[in-house]
Amino acid sequence: MEFQADADLPPILTVEGVNVWLSGRQILHDVNFRIEAGEFTGLIGSNGAGKTTLLRVILGLESPTSGRVLVGGRPRSPRNPLIGYVPQKILLDPDMPLRARDLVALGLDGHRFGLPRRSTAQKVLIDEMIDAVDATSFADARVGILSGGEQQRVLIAHALISRPRLLLLDEPLANLDIRSEQEVVELVARIASEQQIAVLISAHDMNPLLPVMDRVIYVAAGRVASGTTEEVVTTEALSELYGHHVDVVQINERILVVAGRETAAHHDHSDSRAE
Ligand SMILES: Nc1ncnc2c1ncn2[C@@H]1O[C@H](COP(=O)(O)OP(=O)(O)OP(=O)(O)O)[C@@H](O)[C@H]1O
Ligand SMILES: [Mg+2]
Repeated sequence: MEFQADADLPPILTVEGVNVWLSGRQILHDVNFRIEAGEFTGLIGSNGAGKTTLLRVILGLESPTSGRVLVGGRPRSPRNPLIGYVPQKILLDPDMPLRARDLVALGLDGHRFGLPRRSTAQKVLIDEMIDAVDATSFADARVGILSGGEQQRVLIAHALISRPRLLLLDEPLANLDIRSEQEVVELVARIASEQQIAVLISAHDMNPLLPVMDRVIYVAAGRVASGTTEEVVTTEALSELYGHHVDVVQINERILVVAGRETAAHHDHSDSRAE
């Protein structure tokens, strides 16, 4: 997907010199990057790399020890309406009496509880959003009984109904089979491009995102490299980021990042599965 930044608009997201310490440990090291309006960015890294922490800092749920985050060129406020968020771990109880449609509708209410009466305009918007994520056929089913891919689509509609300019998705592809993975990626990319929403989507594996990704932010042990895939996902750039040799290899259009042979024995599980 080719992307042209609009020179008149400030970046939708600016992260400058962000350091985060939690419980006496440095989790993020001098993180710097920007996301322009409408851009689709992958946030790639293995378990424990710092992806969720970075998303929580962007949301204002975690404060950086130093550095700053600007949203639309301004210091971000809590519950910023410009940002939509689908968190990593959501447990939806099968017995919970909440229909998919109700969960989408709750996205209109921010933090208010209860199911308020809906105006006709709101009902139309809810139906449009359900249709946009292809959830019409299960809109009246309880969310807890839906499949992982169906729940993911409902959660995306929930995050998008308030019309954010930046959508943060934390590992929406985890636990999906390859087909649902592809469906969710295509769905998010289509809606984002139709509505000019910037997307920051975290994943262990960048491969499902390659067809739609404008840029990549690669996280390894709390350090970040950002740019186009061609710039960042190279043996040289990733070896520097990891601080030891890794190989970037391409097999049948798939990109794999593997720990170098001479160092693999000295590194833990998360490093040797560096993709
Ligand atoms: N509140 C906290 N206090 C102390 N350490 C924390 C806290 N939150 C996260 N961490 C640590 O920060 C590191 C990064 O965690 P984070 O959840 O951001 O990783 P991640 O890239 O999202 O991993 P995963 O792919 O497994 O979701 C981990 O080592 C984690 O243990
Ligand atoms: Mg995480």
